Amino acid sequence: MADGSWYDADIDHVIISEEQIREKIDELAKQVSADHADAADGILLVCVLKGAVMFMADFARSLGRQGPSTEMEFMAVSSYGQGTTSSGVVRILKDLDRDIAGRHVLVVEDIVDSGLTLSWLMKYLESRQPASVEVVALFRKPDAVKVQVPVKYVGFDIPNEFVVGYGLDFAERYRELPYVGVLRPEVYARS
Ligand code: XMP
Ligand code: MG
Repeated sequence: MADGSWYDADIDHVIISEEQIREKIDELAKQVSADHADAADGILLVCVLKGAVMFMADFARSLGRQGPSTEMEFMAVSSYGQGTTSSGVVRILKDLDRDIAGRHVLVVEDIVDSGLTLSWLMKYLESRQPASVEVVALFRKPDAVKVQVPVKYVGFDIPNEFVVGYGLDFAERYRELPYVGVLRPEVYARS
């Protein structure tokens, strides 16, 4: 997997490759497109910052090639701080910029771990009377689910390990990796 980038030395093993991610995103976009072919006013994508930023960019472009039209909103919520486990306490760091009432909303999430963040977010969005709220998540950790959240579109089920890359960080680093992998234990020890 070594392509000569600085971060390869910090990665213990790759879980999902760049190519797998690309193929999966096109598949997800095809499904969403087929399911929303008659959405007259398009789909309102709500990206959950920061982790879903890469997924949003690639997914929106893939969906854009097939339709329906999309609009983009961004929210930032925090449940993790600098650590690696969910606290269940969610804070809004950045709210929606507009009214979503009557719109078909698709939440674009990086990863569903315990499900606590998403379950909170779904209630929050539903309280704003959209026509519908669905979720597309690129990754899901099935072993870690504490709260059942209906995630209609899932990219990959991955093992219950802390992962970085493709938007996912450890202490704000490694988001730019084109793949998703597990850090070497030494990386945690030196931080
Ligand atoms: P919960 O547990 O509430 O967590 O479903 C959801 C959010 O936590 C982050 N998260 C991770 N971030 N590597 C990361 O870099 C991981 O393995 C990981 N697991 C959860 C992520 O922001 C997600 O939306
Ligand atoms: Mg997230």
